Amino acid sequence: MGQEQVGEIRHDRSGISFRPGLEGVPVTQSAICDIDGLQGRLAYRGYPIAELSAHSSFLETTYLLIWGDLPSPQQLRDFEAEVQMHRRVSFRVRDMMKCFPASGHPMDALQSSAASLGLFYSRRAIDDPKYVYDAVVRLIAKIPTMVAAFKLIRKGQDPIQPRDDLAYSANFLYMLTEREPDPLAARVLDRCLILHAEHSLNASTFSARVTASTLTDPYAVVASAVGTLAGPLHGGANEDVLAMLEEIGSPEHADDYLNEAITSKRKVMGFGHREYRVKDPRAVILQGLAEELFARFGTDEMYDVAKALEQAAATRLGPKGIYPNVDFYSGLVYRKLGIPRDLFTPVFAISRVAGWLAHWREQLGANRIFRPSQIYTGAQNRTWIPSDERVSSTGA
Ligand code: CMC
Repeated sequence: MGQEQVGEIRHDRSGISFRPGLEGVPVTQSAICDIDGLQGRLAYRGYPIAELSAHSSFLETTYLLIWGDLPSPQQLRDFEAEVQMHRRVSFRVRDMMKCFPASGHPMDALQSSAASLGLFYSRRAIDDPKYVYDAVVRLIAKIPTMVAAFKLIRKGQDPIQPRDDLAYSANFLYMLTEREPDPLAARVLDRCLILHAEHSLNASTFSARVTASTLTDPYAVVASAVGTLAGPLHGGANEDVLAMLEEIGSPEHADDYLNEAITSKRKVMGFGHREYRVKDPRAVILQGLAEELFARFGTDEMYDVAKALEQAAATRLGPKGIYPNVDFYSGLVYRKLGIPRDLFTPVFAISRVAGWLAHWREQLGANRIFRPSQIYTGAQNRTWIPSDERVSSTGA
């Protein structure tokens, strides 16, 4: 253990120092994802993210993340076929979703639907490779169907059934937008899913590993992670970025907005990352994807606002190592793909299921239940008194 810092708080029994947000504290060993936050490098299972996003498919990358190696052509064909076969969800799940409030957030609908799968496939044989494979296939296959189903169900429409002749991302866009997507749009979405599939021990993946460590079923693991991803400091930031760009309105207002945010200590959404001190490598690729889409389907005026904000932030936030993260350009891409704003985070979840399941398997391979410690700061040695003798803290 290093030298004690001024103001450092240590556990009185173990002597271990308290690190808010567990910053820099290793809580597991993992062979899945490597981040170099100073150089802006990210690799899944040793493969640089730029190579995977340029050449791989989301399902191939999912296989790589979960089983550790790129699949052979036959393994990939089998995996794709299995996923395609399990895309449909039970009418019971769809009926359950019809009872959800239409005004509810799609992330809450997704968390409940993902958890409900545990009711249908509840055999907790997590040490049986067949159970593990089937659970992976079901979750990867059904989560997009459930996201698309809620989009239509909340409008009082019947969900669109998956189309077997369409590949994974094309089928998702089809179920969502109700028309067969342009091949460029489908490929861009597939690349987005690759980019979001895994990112080491972020909050939702940590949540997945904690849940996995209790040996519960994988549906509960994914449901807990979906709930964690929903927050605005994590996956939910992509929605807030577009709202912020619209509030700024035009590129010439970017400077004033930034100054005001910094003065009032407000976070600029889509900026900053615990791991990166440079621009997130995924933001670099997503910006390129946005430009590809704009060149083909017409621009988005908020893109100019985003670029102006990034430029202004380079001198004001850059020196603190705060640069655009993955959420900064993803919303602009999703909007061009015709995805409604409150589905941005569910789309993130569709992809991150791959990473969560990779961590679920890895956790089970060397499991010890997570049970950290705390530093108690509450009252001691109080004596219970009857309610009619109590005086409230407000004096009432
Ligand atoms: N805008 C302005 N200042 C910032 C920002 C930001 N976006 N992010 C960090 N800072 C400042 C913060 O004010 C603090 O300054 P000081 O030391 O002067 O008080 C310093 O940087 C450290 O910030 P922190 O909040 O302690 O950093 P963290 O590592 O705990 O948080 C973060 C990381 C991503 C939660 C944070 O940068 C943030 O809230 N960003 C905005 C929300 C966002 O874009 N989230 C998406 C994250 S990436 C995708 C994902 O994980 O899902």
